[in-house]
Amino acid sequence: MQGFPGQPRPAASNRVLTIGPNEQGIVTATVSGHPVTSAATFIGPYRLINPVYFGATTQLWQAYHDATHRYIALKFLQEKFRTDREQIRSLRWEYQVASQFDDERIIKIYEFNIDKGIPYLAMEWFSGGNMKSLIRRGLPEYAHLVRKIIFQCIEGVSYLHRQGYVHRDIKPENFLVSNQGDVKLIDFALCRKMAPRILWYLRPKAKIQGTCSYMSPEQILNKPLDGRADLYSLACTIFELVCGKPPFTGQNQTELLNKHLKAAPPPPEAYNPNLTPEFSRILQKALAKRPADRFKTIGEFAGALYDVQIFKEPPVGEVTPEMVSV
Ligand SMILES: Nc1ncnc2c1ncn2[C@@H]1O[C@H](COP(=O)(O)OP(=O)(O)OP(=O)(O)O)[C@@H](O)[C@H]1O
Ligand SMILES: [Mg+2]
Repeated sequence: MQGFPGQPRPAASNRVLTIGPNEQGIVTATVSGHPVTSAATFIGPYRLINPVYFGATTQLWQAYHDATHRYIALKFLQEKFRTDREQIRSLRWEYQVASQFDDERIIKIYEFNIDKGIPYLAMEWFSGGNMKSLIRRGLPEYAHLVRKIIFQCIEGVSYLHRQGYVHRDIKPENFLVSNQGDVKLIDFALCRKMAPRILWYLRPKAKIQGTCSYMSPEQILNKPLDGRADLYSLACTIFELVCGKPPFTGQNQTELLNKHLKAAPPPPEAYNPNLTPEFSRILQKALAKRPADRFKTIGEFAGALYDVQIFKEPPVGEVTPEMVSV
């Protein structure tokens, strides 16, 4: 499948586009088994242009709004979830939460609607893949941008916390990164208002949600969350950005979650000897099991990082602290 020049290709390179007759003899297009579109070239007023991502529950397309002459990103439910109330509620929730945000580091969400039975979200188009695909390209490709990327991720998460929200799904897939190292935080489906501890315990027991490789111990244990849970997940994300792998991996989900709960955070410099001990120490502190042993806020974490060098041997053309706004 081809993206057009300068535009991201679908999330995983192993996704297979198949166009051909289905069991009923009707010609359809599928990507790794998912129907690409339901005959429509438009959803709402948006012209579908280029498929970008096929997830468990959603598809994401680059689309074009003829009336305003601009590209937008269109996220809509996969066919089998289009009448699923929980999924529709989740998409609408993402709109309700994120449409009120106004920050350079947060993707702008324009509209939630349902057209031809397809619930969709229209948002700002950002030309750049997600951080996971950047990491797959290998550190030498982006080492000079690491400092800028880290501080822009911090800005996005910190804005959310200042609005009183916890993101709860901070991970490399949920940061978009441009070729210049500019960052946008996305995917607000799990975002929740921070609540006083007592209210947290009183509200109906929600199921545990998040992504195992990046989930804080308190999130795994379904305890009250504050910004320090996102800080832990951000530290896992930054760890992967500079080491090429997240701090904990496991043969299965249980093993992985147990490591988050019990295993000491690994020293990042063991995976990348070019990391300075000061930087490694800061990352390890942000990965502490007990929230009280981490930094109090993302701002405090940023302050600690601001004063240290990340790499012993700085990459050529590194973006220096003076060039980064916190
Ligand atoms: N505004 C955007 N501009 C460009 N690409 C985007 C945009 N939003 C999302 N993407 C791409 O689509 C991917 C999935 O988006 P998102 O995280 O919002 O979906 P999701 O809710 O996680 O989907 P699922 O739960 O079905 O896996 C991102 O990782 C990114 O590659
Ligand atoms: Mg996502």
